[in-house]
Amino acid sequence: MTHWMRSMHDAILVGIGTALNDNPQLNTRLIPEVSRPSKLPRPIILDAHLRLPIDCKLLSNFRQGRGLQPWIFCSSSDFPEMSNRQCTLLEAGAVIFYVSCENGFLSIPQVLEELYNQGIRSLMVEGGATVINSFLECARQSHGVTVPSMVDTIIITTAPMFVGNGGVEYKVGCAERVGEVPTLQHIRTALMGTDTVTAVRILRGQ
Ligand SMILES: NC(=O)c1ccc[n+]([C@@H]2O[C@H](COP(=O)([O-])OP(=O)(O)OC[C@H]3O[C@@H](n4cnc5c(N)ncnc54)[C@H](OP(=O)(O)O)[C@@H]3O)[C@@H](O)[C@H]2O)c1
Repeated sequence: MTHWMRSMHDAILVGIGTALNDNPQLNTRLIPEVSRPSKLPRPIILDAHLRLPIDCKLLSNFRQGRGLQPWIFCSSSDFPEMSNRQCTLLEAGAVIFYVSCENGFLSIPQVLEELYNQGIRSLMVEGGATVINSFLECARQSHGVTVPSMVDTIIITTAPMFVGNGGVEYKVGCAERVGEVPTLQHIRTALMGTDTVTAVRILRGQ
């Protein structure tokens, strides 16, 4: 299901935490070859300090002609080792974009604006928890104002297990009153094996 969802988007975004822990490929290889769309999603990594290893699968797949060129978003302010890391990653095949930081993280509105300028019209944010919470926080901040919402649809998978602190939570305390959180409209719920998958749409504010 995740690979089908990936195939429906121009780009797939993860944080550097996920890139380091999972070494993901962010492609659609699990779709049967006969029905696999030829178009691959663009892999995007939020990586303020350019920590992505050059032997990661995203870069090696690109070098071997098995994946699109990964785009890395990093901090526009200099840090020690920045120019070395830039050269190494560019030589390894990455494209690097520079955005400023807000509250210690890369600015999501600036990332989305740059992606739009680069022709990306649909983006799937695959994780991890820190990145998903940043996008949800942007959706909350843009709720009720006249800019387009930063998030339009959320896919929630519930598995029959406890994950403790490893789960994604909508941060407690980030919205003090009911009217400050976006309204969610249920689209569909489906059972996939033992998981329940629910799609909801974020409605525009009043
Ligand atoms: N169950 C699932 O479907 C699923 C999906 C994906 C991942 N995961 C799991 O999630 C875990 C990783 O999650 P994580 O929360 O530790 O890391 P993450 O969300 O993948 O990455 C977080 C890092 O991304 C960078 N970043 C840059 N701009 C950001 C922004 N605006 N907002 C948030 N982060 C930004 C920060 O590092 P810098 O400051 O260095 O840039 C931050 O520490 C992995 O173990 C993976 O297995 C699970």
